[in-house]
Amino acid sequence: MTFTVAIDGPAAAGKGTIARAVAAHFGMAHLDTGLLYRAVGAKVLAGAAPEAAARALTPDDLKGEALRTQAVAEAASKVAAIPEVRAALVAFQRTFAARSDGAVLDGRDIGTVICPAAQVKLYVTASPECRAQRRLDELAAKGIAGTFETILAEVRARDARDSERATAPLKPAADAVMLDTSDLSIEEAVARAVAEVAARRG
Ligand code: DC
Repeated sequence: MTFTVAIDGPAAAGKGTIARAVAAHFGMAHLDTGLLYRAVGAKVLAGAAPEAAARALTPDDLKGEALRTQAVAEAASKVAAIPEVRAALVAFQRTFAARSDGAVLDGRDIGTVICPAAQVKLYVTASPECRAQRRLDELAAKGIAGTFETILAEVRARDARDSERATAPLKPAADAVMLDTSDLSIEEAVARAVAEVAARRG
């Protein structure tokens, strides 16, 4: 039997960290679906047409630190608003979710569109200020300078684009469990997510 954990939420709320930890805890496979859109965004920045890039994506395209830049994140958020790009990526995500050892997928529309029948749906969020501060700390750890105001503006712009688009906008599924990580440590947030999964896994 398949067992799918859908983790959605805005950028820098902690869903990637939580998804990786939940997958490791239960021995499930993990897919960061943002990487699919980032890989398409990177190809578009290199001159490709968005839909063709999405159709031609291979697992090798999902590797590499180059997908982590702000420029690629912006491009990803833009190509993610194109219905044909989203449609081209559905089958890969659903096949991954159906793995027999169970799967954790994190993104924006996993609980609402990709896996509406997922056994566990978590919506991980945090205040924009808190997410901007985390981004700033992440950048500082890599030796990259930034200002809080600039990063907060980027966070708000990406939130607006992701939640206001017509196709598969960022929003919690009606039956999602909300997990606000603003005042939680990573350990606390992971422990809550693990408890939700354990309660439904039996
Ligand atoms: O999670 P991330 O920052 O890597 O995602 C990059 C962009 O991809 C994000 O701004 C919106 C888009 N995205 C999406 O539309 N649907 C998903 N399931 C995952 C990401």
